[in-house]
Amino acid sequence: MGEMAQKIVKTDTKELVEMLNIAFAEEWLAYYQYWLGAQLITGPMRTSVTEEFLEHANEELKHAQWLCDRILQLGGTPVLDPENWNKTAQCKYDAPENPYVMNLLEQNLIAERCAVARYQKICEMTFGKDFETFRMAEKILKEELEHEQEIGDFKEDIIAGIKNQDKIK
Ligand SMILES: [Fe+2]
Ligand SMILES: [Fe+2]
Repeated sequence: MGEMAQKIVKTDTKELVEMLNIAFAEEWLAYYQYWLGAQLITGPMRTSVTEEFLEHANEELKHAQWLCDRILQLGGTPVLDPENWNKTAQCKYDAPENPYVMNLLEQNLIAERCAVARYQKICEMTFGKDFETFRMAEKILKEELEHEQEIGDFKEDIIAGIKNQDKIK
């Protein structure tokens, strides 16, 4: 717990910690959604998509680490029980019941868009009021935007590939 860390924050710390815990739970779910998807994936380009999923999974875990560090600095407690991850998160976990690549890409694209909105919100909450949380949220936002773009690109490439195959036939 950082005494000065809390004193310099010009926003409601309790409300901020609650928001950071929502994001923290969402990051764990995003990590698992990507990681499990990478194990189960079927369909075209699965080797490259698996690599991308594992890379994203590691970044989501890194985001969870940054959020945890900041929650502790602000005197909060990170979600203690994994049972509460889905209850706390507002971007919900989507089980990869259909592991076809296009389906997994779509599920993760929805998750990324939700994450982008989450960090946009945290940036708005902290802008000019809590520089450190703002800096962290801005850094995560940048990565979530990249994730959204990469997943969208894979979707487009696979669709284009399938269309080309049809032409060859
Ligand atoms: Fe993330
Ligand atoms: Fe992400």
